[in-house]
This record gives sequence, C-alpha cells and structure tokens, in this order.
Amino acid sequence: MLSCKKKVVIVTGAAAGMGKAIAANLVNNNYCVFMFDKNEKELVRVAQSMPVGYVDYFCGDVTHKRDVEEALNQCITKFDCVDALVSNVGLIEKMDFLEMTEEQWDRSMAVNLKGAFLWGQAVSKWMVSNSCQGSIVNIGCMRASLVGRGMLPYATAKAGIRMLTKAMAVELAPYNINVNAIEPGRTLTDGLKRHMINTAAVSKRIGLIPLGRFAQAEDIANAVVFLLSESAKYITGSAIPVDGGYSIAKE
Ligand SMILES: NC(=O)c1ccc[n+]([C@@H]2O[C@H](COP(=O)([O-])OP(=O)(O)OC[C@H]3O[C@@H](n4cnc5c(N)ncnc54)[C@H](O)[C@@H]3O)[C@@H](O)[C@H]2O)c1
Repeated sequence: MLSCKKKVVIVTGAAAGMGKAIAANLVNNNYCVFMFDKNEKELVRVAQSMPVGYVDYFCGDVTHKRDVEEALNQCITKFDCVDALVSNVGLIEKMDFLEMTEEQWDRSMAVNLKGAFLWGQAVSKWMVSNSCQGSIVNIGCMRASLVGRGMLPYATAKAGIRMLTKAMAVELAPYNINVNAIEPGRTLTDGLKRHMINTAAVSKRIGLIPLGRFAQAEDIANAVVFLLSESAKYITGSAIPVDGGYSIAKE
C-alpha cells in the first residue's frame, strides 16, 4: 500500500483528452489519482509523465462490471481509500437515426451511460460502507439539452447522465456524498477533432460561442477541481455548463 495522505480520486478515460487534463490538474492540486482507461499504451504513457508514488492505473472497459470492480479493489489496495470519482469516459459518435443499428444504440448507451452507473454505484457502495463523505462528478455534455442531426444516441445518453447525476445526488445525500455533472461545450480534444469537418464549419461554430473560442480540456479540469473542493460542499445534483455561454446564446 502507498502511504497516501492526500485525497484519492478515480478518473475514468484518463489516457486522453479531458480525462488526461483532469488527472494532471488533480495531481497539481495535491490529489492522488487512480486512472482507468481501455487504451493501455496511452494510459502507461500518461502515468509515466506523472510524479512517482501518487498515481496508479488500471486498463479496463467501463462497460464491464468486472473491470470496474477489479480496478476499485486495486485502488483501495494501493491507496487505502477513495475520496472522489470523476466519470469522464464518453464516445462522441454521429450516426443517422434511420440507418443506425441496434448494436450502435447499445454501444452508445453502454459507453456513455452504463459506465457512469457501474462506476458510480461501485464507488458509492464503498464510500457508504466506509463512512466516507466523498464527491462524484459525471462528465455530461451540452447535448443533454441541445441536439443536432446525427446525435440521437449520444444526446440521449448524455441526457441520461444529467438525470443519473440528480438521482444519485438524492440517493446519496443522506451519506453526505455530493454528485454533480459538468456539461462541456465543444472542447479541443482528439475526441472532438475526429468530428471537425472543415475550417469554415469550425469558424461558424466558434461564432456561436459568446466567449469566442472552443474550450480547452483544462477549462473542464478546473471546474472538476472546484467541484471536488471544500468550497463546493453545498452543491449537489447540479449540471453545470462549461461551454463559453453556448447554451444560453440565441443565435
Ligand atoms: N470533446 C468535446 O468536445 C466534448 C464536449 C462535451 C462533452 N464531452 C465529453 O467529455 C468526455 C471526454 O471526452 P474527450 O473529448 O476527452 O474524449 P476522447 O475521445 O479524447 O478521450 C476519451 C478517453 O476515454 C477512453 N475510453 C473510451 N471508451 C472507453 C471504455 N469503454 N472504457 C474505458 N475507457 C474508454 C478512450 O480510450 C480515451 O482515452 C466524454 O464523456 C465526452 O462525451 C466532450
């Protein structure tokens, strides 16, 4: 067991994009971080870039309950506790509603929604049985309330993340466990870059954001650090947009 007197946070999807930025920001803010991702090569690379002794990782799939349970056990064995969870894994995939298959629907629901349920339940059970007054942050998306063509399963799953967050907050409030969601707007990660079509489309989209730029992964990571801090102890069940004002703009 590592002698970790710092608070311990599990971050899923930590090998890339927002998850990687969230893990790095938490380490910089004196947390121990347990990283989970299915991409072993990148996960190892990220872990090796972090200070020795305060990070650990597990390669697994958020849609497999056994992976989640084994990872949680490893985290407890290494660090002796878990104070917070950031459920960040998500898969932005566009598909035509009339053409999409049952398998595509199932995959989107599993990666974008079921993973947060499996991790959220496993960590909550541990926190409740160990009297740990922790925090959970689910990474949702502005698509929970704003939908475009091709976004049907992703937007439906992210609306599910918003309500999963609120329902978990109600269930866990008696144990002083806070549960919140962050709903990012377009954020410059590889996940987004795969969907950027051309420069004209990008400029048009930036023009719709009141603050005039896409988010950086660090913008989301800063919001996570706030929600895990003592300053946020009276916030639970909220879904906070971190989108440069996109969701309140009229045109
Ligand atoms: N990038 C954006 O513009 C944007 C906007 C709003 C919300 N989001 C949400 O933010 C979160 C992070 O997005 P991102 O852009 O950083 O994504 P990304 O594609 O850059 O990174 C996702 C990470 O999750 C891992 N992953 C994917 N499926 C997994 C699985 N089944 N099990 C374990 N690990 C898995 C990948 O290996 C990768 O490391 C997602 O929930 C996404 O829906 C992203």
